[in-house]
Amino acid sequence: MTNLIALTRGVPASESFAIDALIGCAEQALKRYGTTILQYHPPRGFMPLREAIASQENVPVEQVMLGNGSIQLLDLLIRTTLHPGDAVLVERPTYDRTIRTFRNAGCQVHGIAMEQDGPNLHELEKALKRHQPRMLYVIPDFQNPTGATMSAIKREAVMALAASYRTIVIADLPYRPLRYWGEDEPSLDDCGDATLIRMSSFSKLISPGLRVGWMVAPESFIDDMSTLAGSAYICPSMVPEGMVFEFLRQGLMEPALVELKALYGPRLRACLEALNRHLPEAQWVKPEGGFFLGVTLPEGVDAGDVQQRARMEGVILSDGEDFYPDGDGSRFVRIPFCGVNERDMDTAITGIARAVRSLS
Ligand SMILES: Cc1ncc(COP(=O)(O)O)c(C=O)c1O
Repeated sequence: MTNLIALTRGVPASESFAIDALIGCAEQALKRYGTTILQYHPPRGFMPLREAIASQENVPVEQVMLGNGSIQLLDLLIRTTLHPGDAVLVERPTYDRTIRTFRNAGCQVHGIAMEQDGPNLHELEKALKRHQPRMLYVIPDFQNPTGATMSAIKREAVMALAASYRTIVIADLPYRPLRYWGEDEPSLDDCGDATLIRMSSFSKLISPGLRVGWMVAPESFIDDMSTLAGSAYICPSMVPEGMVFEFLRQGLMEPALVELKALYGPRLRACLEALNRHLPEAQWVKPEGGFFLGVTLPEGVDAGDVQQRARMEGVILSDGEDFYPDGDGSRFVRIPFCGVNERDMDTAITGIARAVRSLS
């Protein structure tokens, strides 16, 4: 078997990195802010970048904290807000690392079934009533791993339910700017009054290696996170924050988004077309952006078996179960279409389809 096609990790395509622009940003950042970003710093991160995010998100700067990736901020939030044994709700399936982060803190993680347009509201209400969770973690736009986007109606319902059960909503938004077609759904902050914490990062827009993420939360949460961050790692890595700020200041984000959409949009289309052509017996979400598309295999076909057979066809898949907090993913396959060009995507879906047929 020659070229294996990996559909495992949802990482940005290497060809998406704006290396020349980033060399310029690093040089400018060091020239302009060198004495600040080469020094120890307060734990909330580089003020000009915090201000840029505060203005983008329309909040006071005191509510913005930067970290080494958004996942670090989620970890800080969980450690400062939750206690072992606390219940939390997530979508089912959801981002596997979030499940692990909650579990590392001893939380009980309960899943709410995902539908094409977001979480099942009936299940959500039942789980709120039964578990009285402190937090509900959602990925409203182009969800990892399904690709689903929460509809406006569900956004309002989720916020109303969370408010009535006093559950904090955490909206993880790394894919929201990556819409390839269709119209944006409203932001959750315009959909109700529940306590809302937003997180996102530059990992999918500039580079994950820079490790620059942000969180917007009520100030009391940021105060506690900042105290813990100060004792755990003093401050986030400042030079990348200076580089990201330069990227924004120089107006490079808008053209970068245009290029990212031109790269990933056709890959998503190719993935949808290949599924229609080769695997019509399966079901899948039809994303309009992001990095992922979730496929539910036909009844009776096990994703673990498909994973093994697909490897023989030259396609490496990740383990669908990892995205399910309660081991329910036996027919689930995540396709990260972002890292695979159109031709390879057709080959990969053909391989998966052959694997499925050999098992049905
Ligand atoms: C939903 C979601 N949240 C968070 C992250 C991690 O982001 P960061 O690199 O900012 O830690 C990812 C990365 O794949 C993700 O898909």
